[in-house]
Amino acid sequence: MLNKEFFAKNREQLFLQLAPNSIAVLVNAPIYLRTCANYPYRHNNDFYYITGITEPNAIAVFLKGEHNVEYLLFQPQRDEKQEQFEGLCATENELMEKHAIHQMYWLHELDQRMPELLSNKEQLYYPYGRYADFDLRVQQWMHQARLEARQGVSVPHEIFNIETIIHEMRFIKTPEEISILQTSANIAAQAHLQTMQACRPGMHEYELESIFVGSCMKQGARYMAYESIVASGNNACTLHYMQNSGVLHTGDLVLIDAGCEYQSYASDITRTFPINGRFTPEQKAIYELVLAAQLAAISKAKPGNTWYDCQAVAVRTITEGLVDLGLLKGHIDDLIENETYKQFYYHKIGHWIGMDVHDVGAYKIKEDWRVLQPGIVMTIEPGIYISREAENVDEKWKGIGVRIEDDVLVTQAENTILTAGVPKQIEEIESILSIG
Ligand code: GLY
Ligand code: MN
Ligand code: MN
Repeated sequence: MLNKEFFAKNREQLFLQLAPNSIAVLVNAPIYLRTCANYPYRHNNDFYYITGITEPNAIAVFLKGEHNVEYLLFQPQRDEKQEQFEGLCATENELMEKHAIHQMYWLHELDQRMPELLSNKEQLYYPYGRYADFDLRVQQWMHQARLEARQGVSVPHEIFNIETIIHEMRFIKTPEEISILQTSANIAAQAHLQTMQACRPGMHEYELESIFVGSCMKQGARYMAYESIVASGNNACTLHYMQNSGVLHTGDLVLIDAGCEYQSYASDITRTFPINGRFTPEQKAIYELVLAAQLAAISKAKPGNTWYDCQAVAVRTITEGLVDLGLLKGHIDDLIENETYKQFYYHKIGHWIGMDVHDVGAYKIKEDWRVLQPGIVMTIEPGIYISREAENVDEKWKGIGVRIEDDVLVTQAENTILTAGVPKQIEEIESILSIG
């Protein structure tokens, strides 16, 4: 569990980057109503990273002076009736003590207090563009504050998107965060293993999903990091297939792309395996090629290289392999240059992962791909997809979709695969499936 020192350190880092005489505002996510009940609540990661607070709708305000910062929190007023329905909220004293807050206010006081808080500040930092109704409220507060111009009041003359600062902070993971990411990865790996062991021809895709989700929950991961993809046969050629309604046919592969969220940190794993436990020669050839591309890309995930180095080596490995198998024809460099390989490998090699499954942090700094450094966590997930509709392809290849995805921590030496707990070598997979 992240402790309060983690959040205090994050606030300190944020405050160092705020100009003197400025104001910063952070907003937690709203509650979205479904019908009579709400959609599952998920806090805003930037808000959480800085405050450690998960209370819905809370708003944090930081007033940076020349040397000090005042921390105000606006939170929804406690309501006995609501608490009967939804459980107790944290009290003001609990929040103030736990989070080093200087002043607490009720949320309904925000519109009245904000114009004054904005007055005579030089810069305003807030998550511009994140919540449309909040942008509108900021405009209204600025307008209110401007009405006092003839009393000598000024409003911030510069507005910064605070997300750009916090996202760069979130990009490099601390040892505490890595430890939680490792637990998230372990839980998802164990769930993948159990799902693989339970697979039988004739089951529905959603039955495998239920085994994955149930296993994560049993291990303490109450929420998934994203909707699980369980795609058998040709369904695997749809990248974000999420119906999970098909029947598992013997002779087909099944691709499972699923990960959990543990203590706000995501895992993201894909494994592909034969429903009846044995790869056909064509499935094996494609699988081995994807695995070779993934291992090549992982070997590039080290300090000094870039995300693009991982992408480039995967593209080259896949293109060469597809030429060897007769699925692509031509010169390798031309097929890469013209992006012909995209007929079969049409997504990118991976993404940063952290509190968000597709985590924050720039991929390029100005024109240049960002250089990898220890503490970056990224997925490596090449795939090859040969759909039933593919043109100019021998029938024997059709309906094969393979992706292999791991979460990789860049370290001083090279990297650590956080999701190594779930096997991906053909012999290992066949052996697990034969035991069942
Ligand atoms: N599961 C989403 C992704 O792999 O990016
Ligand atoms: Mn991914
Ligand atoms: Mn994935």
